[in-house]
Amino acid sequence: MLKLSKLATAAALAVAGTGLCVSALAGEVEVLHYWTSGGEAKSVAELKKIMQAKGHVWKDFAVAGGGGDNAATVLKSRVVSGNPPAAAQIKGPAIQEWASEGVLANLDSVAQAEKWDSLLPKVVADVMKYKGHYVAAPVNVHRVNWMWANAAVLKKAGVAGMPKTWDEFFVAAEKVKKIGLIPVAHGGQNWQDFTTFESVVLGVGGPKFYSDALVKLDAKALTSDTMKKSLETFRKVKTYTDAAAPGRDWNLATAMVMQEKAAFQFMGDWAKGEFLAAGKVPGKDFLCAAAPGTANAFTFNVDSFAMFKLKDPAAQKAQGDLAAAIMGTEFQEVFNLNKGSIPVRLNMNMAKFDDCAKLSSKDFVDTAKTGGLVPSVAHGMAITPAAEGAIKDAVSQFWNDDTISVAEAQKRIAVAAKTK
Ligand code: BGC
Repeated sequence: MLKLSKLATAAALAVAGTGLCVSALAGEVEVLHYWTSGGEAKSVAELKKIMQAKGHVWKDFAVAGGGGDNAATVLKSRVVSGNPPAAAQIKGPAIQEWASEGVLANLDSVAQAEKWDSLLPKVVADVMKYKGHYVAAPVNVHRVNWMWANAAVLKKAGVAGMPKTWDEFFVAAEKVKKIGLIPVAHGGQNWQDFTTFESVVLGVGGPKFYSDALVKLDAKALTSDTMKKSLETFRKVKTYTDAAAPGRDWNLATAMVMQEKAAFQFMGDWAKGEFLAAGKVPGKDFLCAAAPGTANAFTFNVDSFAMFKLKDPAAQKAQGDLAAAIMGTEFQEVFNLNKGSIPVRLNMNMAKFDDCAKLSSKDFVDTAKTGGLVPSVAHGMAITPAAEGAIKDAVSQFWNDDTISVAEAQKRIAVAAKTK
């Protein structure tokens, strides 16, 4: 749980010290987000434009830090000091936790007027609701189990196409190493490690195993031979990363692929937003494919904005307009074209989207039917923030410390999974 009361004193002191003005202007909408990389900033600028066109004042509250850990910390201090933003980028089970604190606004009137129930996949709508009432607006669907590659580097290394299995991947990685380039661009936050880890687990064990082990946190699955094999494979991937990875941001790792310093990156499709913002062409400069062994599966990551209770009627109006705009066709298209994701709103025209997005869209629908559609743990979609944090730490410790054996890591992950 968020334990807001414990944070209250520290946060109140912090805010008092800044001398911030806490009253909202009429029609002002303050939006807390962590979209600060090239592709992300371009995407959020589109939302700002739409809100400004409606006559509202956009107050940008950007907190740098991929994956949103920093943003989550800042948000807590703002809420406990009684000065929440109108909207904050919160997703998955964390929405439920915030709603249970009684601080989120009810968006039912907007949702009913705009027919959200019929425009959203049920699995998404359920996450946006608390006790049957909408408290958040969904933005997009990111696919996490992607592998990105630089086409020229693969060619130079003699890699014929995107590897489909982990065995093929390691053959390709060796070839890249031989020409003196970095096989895997990686960065240094625990969510980046887990983004790779969950794709490995999915590829090695398949979607049912993934769900048992990482979503249901089933002790038998976590201590199984399949998890052992996943950890062994994960450790092998590590050997193809460079020594300077610790501390590196995800977008700088993407830049290594763009600049022909590295061949592959395991990252969700916000990486595509980076390639596109840099003018790179999908299918020509860079390639996308499901991570090895995961073509039949889709780890989803739905970005959303939870809306906080506000007192000022003009600010409430702006907030309602923001929620409506987020689910509108104009925003859903232009934002997702920039962000690398696909629209969350059903039945959108995909004509302007590239082949990676079209594949994502098709696989989203197909895997929903076959049971291959699974929530991303790395991106806050699957388990409580407390359990997620503990498991991420255990996995990152293993990734960063070769003296931790696979058996020891399995034990630590199983213990972490019990965190409440
Ligand atoms: C978010 C994306 C964001 C990425 C990197 C993910 O958890 O869902 O919207 O681009 O982190 O910050």
